[in-house]
Amino acid sequence: MLRIDIPVPSVVVLMGASGAGKSSFARSFFGPTEILSSDRFRALVADDENNQAATSDAFELLYLVARKRLRRKRLCVIDATNIRERDRAGYVALAREFGCPAVAIILDPGIDVCIERTKARSDRDISREIVRQQYSELQESLHSLNHEGYSQLWYLREASIAAITVALQAGSPQRPISPAGETD
Ligand code: UTP
Ligand code: MG
Repeated sequence: MLRIDIPVPSVVVLMGASGAGKSSFARSFFGPTEILSSDRFRALVADDENNQAATSDAFELLYLVARKRLRRKRLCVIDATNIRERDRAGYVALAREFGCPAVAIILDPGIDVCIERTKARSDRDISREIVRQQYSELQESLHSLNHEGYSQLWYLREASIAAITVALQAGSPQRPISPAGETD
């Protein structure tokens, strides 16, 4: 069994095309309050996970909550597609700002699985072309991930996704931070 040791606090950045299994993976290994899902924040502001017009407000809230949590040294698991470097650079910067590591977990069950799963869903209306585009964009950016500042990089194909366990390493060393503004 493959074990991923996640330092706490840290910023865990899930990556994968629609249907890759990010939200399922997050639910398997992390608590509901540790998971910051862009879809969930879209739903909170617009009552609709799929409302793309709510994206900017959703991410504004996601970052706000992540900052509040990191100030309290709480784990943050980012559940969004995070396909392009510009989509995810902010999370590495956030981790740096709070002196904690950023961990990248890429889920790749294969394009066919992503398409099949997305097609089967009643809560998503994402075309096969969009899933293909997300998938190939992430594949193209894989080589640059090594240089984006993650302390751990996990690339999980279907067999390893099924064989993984996650262990949280509480009280991981980090530099002291002085919270701006707020105290507990
Ligand atoms: P997820 O909802 O976990 O995918 O699974 P995702 O990556 O987060 O997708 P987006 O980006 O939010 O759109 C997609 C579907 O696949 C099933 C889930 O139950 C869900 O219906 N699934 C996921 C499996 O059947 N097996 C798995 O191992 C993972
Ligand atoms: Mg999801």
